[in-house]
Amino acid sequence: MTPKEHVDHIVRDHAEIADLVARLRSALERGDQREMKSLLLALQMLEAKHYATEEALMRVVAYDGAEAHRAEHATMLDTLKRINEALVWENLATVSPQVVAHLEAALAHMIDADQTLNRFVSGNTGLAAG
Ligand SMILES: [Fe+2]
Ligand SMILES: [Fe+2]
Repeated sequence: MTPKEHVDHIVRDHAEIADLVARLRSALERGDQREMKSLLLALQMLEAKHYATEEALMRVVAYDGAEAHRAEHATMLDTLKRINEALVWENLATVSPQVVAHLEAALAHMIDADQTLNRFVSGNTGLAAG
């Protein structure tokens, strides 16, 4: 994939992640456990794919902040896996604080770490990673 193709994927993924986060918050407010489970599994798959795409872009552009950025991805994905494992046995009320914290972390990551990467990529290739 070229840096431009990576960037296009990342921009689309960010919109999808923001949409899933909004739907998850709504399901959480309604206490809809069935919908939460399916949305959280969808979010885990999307985050895994998305982080791999961003990490590939970081390699392509030799990003100097890659290690710290990858560590944030790994922590978020690990948290989400634990939430999804817990949801098999626990009810929504038990895991909802972790869900809320994860959604906040995922949005904060897009605003902070991803925008820092974006500035690096646009400064080095003239592209914007969203
Ligand atoms: Fe991202
Ligand atoms: Fe990221």
